[in-house]
Amino acid sequence: MNASHNRVAVLHGVNFDILERRDPAMYGGLSLYELEAKIQRWAHELGLEAIFFQTNAEGEFCEYLHRVPELADAALVNAGAWTHYSWAIADALAVAAVPTVEVHLSDVESRDDWRKLSVFDGLALAKVSGMGPDGYQKALGLLADELGAGER
Ligand code: DQA
Repeated sequence: MNASHNRVAVLHGVNFDILERRDPAMYGGLSLYELEAKIQRWAHELGLEAIFFQTNAEGEFCEYLHRVPELADAALVNAGAWTHYSWAIADALAVAAVPTVEVHLSDVESRDDWRKLSVFDGLALAKVSGMGPDGYQKALGLLADELGAGER
């Protein structure tokens, strides 16, 4: 893969700073730090460079998305509960216009009805849900394919 076209911004939204305190049956009990370490390792194996961001402030999440085109070639987004209602974040992602995969640790389709809606439908090239941390490895693989394909 072209080393100048391999940067993936990994964005976590609201309540991911306390991931280790959330329901372990849903989220596995690991901390964001531990999750990001896994993502970093998988990214490296795929020839990708991961950069990380987390905030509990919706506006800051939008502002980071505004900068994504300068910072990265693709995005991996787990916006937490904002996924299900933040049209502001959807609009900001549309402007970022980089290949994006939406990820969820838990299986959002089999939980509350309100989690079935995603504001990223039609914006993200794929949604990976219910695979725990391994879902991030799958998402990175999809982005690596996408970025590699852009090279040819
Ligand atoms: C989540 C699923 C969301 O519905 C929830 O609000 C989260 C985490 C997940 O990774 O499973 O905060 O995005």
